[in-house]
Amino acid sequence: MNEKLQENINRAQKLIYEADTIIITAGAGMGVDSGLPDFRGDEGFWRAYPPIAKLGYRFVEMANPSLFENDPHLAWGFYGHRLKLYRSTKPHKGFELLLRLAKEKNDNYFIYTSNVDGQFQKAGFSEDKIYEVHGSIHYLQCTKNCTDEIWENDIKDIEIDMDTLKAKTLPKCKNCDNIARPNILMFGDWYFLEGRSDRQRERFERFLRQNSGKNIVIIEMGAGTAVSTIRNFGDAFSNSNDHITLIRINPRDFEVRNPQDISIPLGALDGLEKILK
Ligand SMILES: NC(=O)c1ccc[n+]([C@@H]2O[C@H](COP(=O)([O-])OP(=O)(O)OC[C@H]3O[C@@H](n4cnc5c(N)ncnc54)[C@H](O)[C@@H]3O)[C@@H](O)[C@H]2O)c1
Ligand SMILES: [Zn+2]
Repeated sequence: MNEKLQENINRAQKLIYEADTIIITAGAGMGVDSGLPDFRGDEGFWRAYPPIAKLGYRFVEMANPSLFENDPHLAWGFYGHRLKLYRSTKPHKGFELLLRLAKEKNDNYFIYTSNVDGQFQKAGFSEDKIYEVHGSIHYLQCTKNCTDEIWENDIKDIEIDMDTLKAKTLPKCKNCDNIARPNILMFGDWYFLEGRSDRQRERFERFLRQNSGKNIVIIEMGAGTAVSTIRNFGDAFSNSNDHITLIRINPRDFEVRNPQDISIPLGALDGLEKILK
C-alpha cells in the first residue's frame, strides 16, 4: 500500500473513532462487491444490460415514466429483472462492518442512499434510519396516480424474455385497472409519489438537527458523478461545518473537494475492511 493511502486510512480510523455520529451514504458502487452492477454512464449501463444495448436505449430513457406508457413490457422487464436481482443478492461483508460501527456509536447513525435496491434493510439496518432519496424497488404505486397509495411490492415472480428484456405480464395497480410501477424517482418524473420518501427525509432532517454541533463523519461509498445527488450532499455538508468530515471510498471517482476530507481510492468492501478492521 502506498504511503499516502496508509496515511488516509489512519486519519479515517482516528476520525471515526472520535466521531459522535456517523452518516453512511451510498451510490450504486456500494453493491458492486455484492455482485450487483453499477451503471456509470451509458457504456457502463449497456455492459450491464446487453439487451438494452441492442435497443440503443440510454439509462435516462429506461428509467423513465414514459416507458411505462409506450412500452410497459420493456419497462417491467427492466425493473422486474432488477427486482429479482436485488431480492436474490446477499449484502457483502462491508455492510456488516458498518452495522457493527453503528452499534458502537449507540445507533447514532443514518443512511442516505440513492440506491433503490433495499440492501441496507436486508443487511439489518433499521428502516427508520434510512433515507432512500430515489425511492425503492420494493414499493409500488399507480402509473396514473389514481390515489397517493404506496404499497409493498409483493409481486411473486415476473416472467421475462431475456432476449428482448420484455416482461410477459404486467403488475396492476391495487386500486384501478392501470399498470403499477416501482415507487422510484425516474427522469422527468411527474408521477413519482413522494409520501414514503418524504417521511424518510423528515426523519433524516430531525436526526441532523439533533446532531448539530457534534463530531460527524460521513462515510460515502460508490457514489458516481453522472447522477451526483449523493456526492453533492457529502461535499456540501462537510463544507458547512468544521466538525463534519467526509470519507469518500471509490476506486475511480475518489477525488475530494474540501481539503479536510479523506479520499480512499478502493472498492467499498476493501476500503471498509481496511478502515473498520
Ligand atoms: N443498486 C441500485 O439501487 C442502483 C444501481 C444502479 C443505478 N442506480 C440508480 O442510478 C443512479 C446511478 O448513480 P450512482 O452514482 O449511484 O451510480 P453510478 O453507476 O453512476 O456510479 C457508480 C460509482 O461506484 C463506483 N464503484 C465501482 N465499483 C465500486 C466498488 N467496488 N466499490 C465502491 N465504489 C465502486 C464507480 O467508480 C462510480 O463512481 C442513481 O440515481 C441510482 O438511484 C441504483
Ligand atoms: Zn391506480
